[in-house]
Amino acid sequence: MKYLIANWKMNSIDIEEWQNRFNKTLKLIKKDIEIIVCPNYLDIIKCSQQAPNLIMAAQDVSIHDDGPFTGQISAYQLSRSSEQLKYCLVGHSEVRFKGDSNSIVKKKSQKLEGCNINSILCVGEDESILNKGEREKFLLNQLDSYFQDGLCPKFIAYEPIWAIGTGIPADKKNIDDALKIISIFLKEKKLKKIPLLYGGSVSSKNVEEIMSSDILSGCLVGNASLDGEEFARIAKKF
Ligand code: 13P
Repeated sequence: MKYLIANWKMNSIDIEEWQNRFNKTLKLIKKDIEIIVCPNYLDIIKCSQQAPNLIMAAQDVSIHDDGPFTGQISAYQLSRSSEQLKYCLVGHSEVRFKGDSNSIVKKKSQKLEGCNINSILCVGEDESILNKGEREKFLLNQLDSYFQDGLCPKFIAYEPIWAIGTGIPADKKNIDDALKIISIFLKEKKLKKIPLLYGGSVSSKNVEEIMSSDILSGCLVGNASLDGEEFARIAKKF
């Protein structure tokens, strides 16, 4: 099975137009591809009404269950928003920038698990860590602090911060090296096989090369997912 996830971030999407452009380009989705979109909180409900077959993921969740936390949304509230919402991102670098530590990422995942929402765990280093040769230590630290107490995400997405939003994805060697670090970690901890994804400037022009890695099960796409037609072109090349 392959997985293709659109992270729309805070971009405004006309869902009807997006769907029309997507459907016009990709008439039939192959049976072995699961397509998931991550709209903003408000659009989760709109997407459910306009696209009843779409599987969705939320982009973030609160660590709290209920109460005076202005602007936040709980896992329980997410679980009640739409039956089509199956997943939620945790640990995305753009959310880590706002202050989410590894322990907060883990707590968010625990809250999601309690509400039957699967986590998509994002990990990835910035350029200075890569240049200092500290990627392995950094990734293992992100993973180690997450995989305690039996917690298990549905996917792990390797998203190098230095490739996100630049238009230039990580090269194959960098992707393979990072995926190997993650796979060896999972094997050593005797954890079940978790599909590994890549995110960072994926487009229809580079997706074939990226997906040629045998340990990769899919992609998490930002900018190139905003246009339904371009996103469908990526899906066609899966
Ligand atoms: P881009 O595809 O825009 O680089 O974004 C990647 C990303 O952050 C997906 O979560």
